[in-house]
Amino acid sequence: CGIVGYVGPRPSQDILLAGLARLEYRGYDSAGVAVIDGDGALGMRKKAGKLSALRDSLSDAPLPDGTTGIGHTRWATHGGPTDVNAHPHLADDDKLALIHNGIIENFASLRDELVAAGVAFRSETDTEVAAALLGREYAQNGGDLQLAFRSVVNRLEGAFTLLAVHQDHQGLVVGARRNSPLVIGLGEGENFLGSDVAAFVEHTRHALAIGQDQIVSITPDAVTVVDFAGTPVEPEPFEVSWDAAAAEKGGWASFMAKEVSEQPEAVANTIRGRIHDGQVVIPELDGLDDLFLGINRVIITACGTASYAALVGKYAIEQWARVAVDVELAHEFRYRDPVIGADTLVVSISQSGETMDTLMAVKYARERGARTLSICNTQGATIPRESDAVVYTHAGPEVAVASTKAFSAQITALLLLGLHMGRVRGSVADASTDVDELSALPDKIARVLADENEHVSQLAGWMADTRSVLFLGRHVGYPIALEGALKLKEISYIHAEGFAAGELKHGPIALIEPGQPVFVLVPSPRHSALVHSKVVSNIQEIRARGARVIVIAEEGDAAVLPFADEVIRIPLAGAMFEPLLAVVPLQIFAMALATAKGLDVDQPRNLAKSVTVE
Ligand code: G6P
Repeated sequence: CGIVGYVGPRPSQDILLAGLARLEYRGYDSAGVAVIDGDGALGMRKKAGKLSALRDSLSDAPLPDGTTGIGHTRWATHGGPTDVNAHPHLADDDKLALIHNGIIENFASLRDELVAAGVAFRSETDTEVAAALLGREYAQNGGDLQLAFRSVVNRLEGAFTLLAVHQDHQGLVVGARRNSPLVIGLGEGENFLGSDVAAFVEHTRHALAIGQDQIVSITPDAVTVVDFAGTPVEPEPFEVSWDAAAAEKGGWASFMAKEVSEQPEAVANTIRGRIHDGQVVIPELDGLDDLFLGINRVIITACGTASYAALVGKYAIEQWARVAVDVELAHEFRYRDPVIGADTLVVSISQSGETMDTLMAVKYARERGARTLSICNTQGATIPRESDAVVYTHAGPEVAVASTKAFSAQITALLLLGLHMGRVRGSVADASTDVDELSALPDKIARVLADENEHVSQLAGWMADTRSVLFLGRHVGYPIALEGALKLKEISYIHAEGFAAGELKHGPIALIEPGQPVFVLVPSPRHSALVHSKVVSNIQEIRARGARVIVIAEEGDAAVLPFADEVIRIPLAGAMFEPLLAVVPLQIFAMALATAKGLDVDQPRNLAKSVTVE
């Protein structure tokens, strides 16, 4: 869910709606705002559907505006996406409004307690329970909203960001966080709260990070933060490194199209400042050699697209740093009894830095004594704050739900990390060829974009009626096959699966029937003639069974021509660097197919960009 709060001299509704528009990628099944108007009355409007439904409702029947307000865009957990279940939820005779991100795990027992005390509920949400509790505590604490928050948060289990306004407190927004994200934006005579800086970056780039288990109050001129026991704490200031224009669509048809095209810069910016004298030296890891020397095992943990970047990282880190690497989905890693300790480095990867599954895995790893390093694209996010070290990707804000440029930047960061670790561990003596390969990537990605965009889009247009697409790859091509399939599932709702090409004959080949489209990622024969020839054999096997074969191969690879229905070309690159080129046509394919089906590429059904519940 996305959360925004405003206090200041300006009418708040437009500020809240603009903030919500920038946060809509966090959830878009309903939205709402609550505003305290000039007469000190609380007005609230909420609507099922995308933000545009709320906007339309407000322009048909405007709410009186005021200069204090909160807004919410929802990704449903408890209770379906209806008007009633949308946030804000009201309490204290509709004088108090509350919005929430997260899940309150003990909501059922709290609800029973409140029902027994005579409270009537309107919605099925866990949030309304928190609102009712806050209303009761507010009355019992003599109308002190911050004190009421303290009693409420100490009774809630689970993860939450809560924001509330009360009509008796014009010019005050109070918020609290445990595990879910919340940041403060500092303006001149006005202040903001947001799930992330996108909520307020068009007004200010000065921000404060709020720690775990803290309560914040903002007024136009002051910000105070206390912990859940009421002890004052100093929030950590940071500057947002990108401006509002970076999170705008510009002339592009979709954010996804824009972000796919930004991959050369995303990769270049992630490399910048990390190559010195022909070696990879990541300045953030200065003085932290111990993280890489005292270990005998690396576990990379992540979810979704980031977990496929992790798989590419496994190949690179093992090759360069000569240490065993396992990749584990964060939600699986956390809930078994993994063998980890001080000799384990747990690397987490998260674009948002807020994915709850990944955050919980990092916390768990720390509790078990492992060292932790995060790869993250969002400054001030929770996962890097919970880790011993962080390597930021510099992809800039990614708005489309389906990840593209963040994925490329994550692989880039993992390649850098592998070479950095290899240098520290003494297993890479001369990185000059790899450093040249890294530096050449942005131009090569730009070439794929320029040369293959039209061809691949056309192909997707012809295939708009396809019901299933398979993707095959070997070595680092395997995770790219998985990512190609995920992109297609996410935005075009077509059944798609990625396989390790060698695994095909052990089962999935039964799926092949005449006309079945199959993408095959062919590794360069220059890296391994053996692996190349095996993939060419795999192509023949599916071709013999009638598959329609679309090959992604390096320029000049003629061996694939006799067996391919279509060939997509990528420039020559080193083995570890090919994934960054091969993924681009797959992203374009998914995007073009979804567009051909008339779907919303940026906001696919049922998904949210940042999933802050487990
Ligand atoms: C969600 C998104 C995916 C993303 C995953 C991990 O499921 O829909 O696109 O890959 O979260 O996100 P993160 O922010 O942790 O990289």
